[in-house]
Amino acid sequence: MPQTSRQIELASYPVGEIHPTDFEVNEVIIPELQVGEVLVRNAFTSVDPALCLRFRATAPKGYFRSFDLHAPLDGVATVGEVVASRAEDFREGDVVSHAYGFREYSVVNPSTIWLGGLGTLRRLDVSVSPAKLYLGPLGGSGISAYAGLFKAAELREGDVVWVSSAAGSVGSIASQLAKLRGHVVIGSAGSEAKIAYLLDELNLDAAFNYHSGPVAELLADVAPDGIDVYFDNVGGDHLEAAIAALRPWGRVALCGAISEYQSEVAVAGPSNLFLATSNELSLRGFRGSNHFDLRDEVIREIAPLIASGQFHYRETVFEGLEATPQAIVHMLRGDNLGKTLVHTA
Ligand SMILES: NC(=O)c1ccc[n+]([C@@H]2O[C@H](COP(=O)([O-])OP(=O)(O)OC[C@H]3O[C@@H](n4cnc5c(N)ncnc54)[C@H](OP(=O)(O)O)[C@@H]3O)[C@@H](O)[C@H]2O)c1
Repeated sequence: MPQTSRQIELASYPVGEIHPTDFEVNEVIIPELQVGEVLVRNAFTSVDPALCLRFRATAPKGYFRSFDLHAPLDGVATVGEVVASRAEDFREGDVVSHAYGFREYSVVNPSTIWLGGLGTLRRLDVSVSPAKLYLGPLGGSGISAYAGLFKAAELREGDVVWVSSAAGSVGSIASQLAKLRGHVVIGSAGSEAKIAYLLDELNLDAAFNYHSGPVAELLADVAPDGIDVYFDNVGGDHLEAAIAALRPWGRVALCGAISEYQSEVAVAGPSNLFLATSNELSLRGFRGSNHFDLRDEVIREIAPLIASGQFHYRETVFEGLEATPQAIVHMLRGDNLGKTLVHTA
């Protein structure tokens, strides 16, 4: 049995842009297993943009709380294998997911509820899919894509849909789910290689690189008659462009606002919000962790589609626990395609 485990900790709260030097790697003694606990050797940990909000001294009101400095980063989705168990329902060799990521080994109590249930210790059915996909399309990303499209945006037949950050984890799932239902889907992303991926691999109807001009103009070029649904992963100028392009009774699923996460100052809202009144638009936020009830449906739909090759899944994997800070920074810069993961074992 291992005696010690290395873990990533936050060394200081970043001011503005996040740098690898904001993190440190520490080695700690693994505490003796108590009755009811299991020891997991972690394999893959999810790298999510919204971690940035928890790297702040004060997290946004209503969100998960900030990470403590010089402490393990609790509440981060990970998958691994049980190596010792004193819990009735778990055995050595079980492949599980839980929420004590960014460390080599985790002591987990199955009765602790994390991330609305998504991060609670759970045995994974690896006959359906490799464990790491439960961190992406079969986990938080898939549930968020589903909740955004079908709950927040109430996707309807014939809707023209724009998905931002469409080459990323949530965006690539949302755009493919909409495409599979016969919608016209527009994607946007930050490089020409990603645009080629959206058009050639995901078969989206149109795509644009938001670095190549004002977003409102780029959107108008590919959707001259407007859009009905905007799946917002970015906020800022993207959200403002969507509000301008939405047709009457259009809907926005407010999934995230990555363009604002590393800003040192509060970002002003869209300047054209009155269009929401004049066109009876709905802008609705949602959190995947509040839609854990969708998990089985998501797995039932997406797992067979991935297995049959109808649904494309990409990932960007960083090797080794010590690559975690680099993984976070690279993902925020857009150097990832699909789901970003850290491989620790
Ligand atoms: N509501 C929820 O429950 C929930 C759950 C999961 C994720 N989210 C949100 O969903 C969004 C996507 O998350 P993800 O996990 O799928 O990440 P991701 O899209 O795989 O990775 C983040 C991407 O954001 C893009 N980006 C970074 N800075 C940007 C900027 N200033 N403007 C435009 N794009 C920028 C980059 O791609 P480019 O190359 O395209 O710039 C980067 O690859 C995030 O806002 C996240 O917080 C919400």
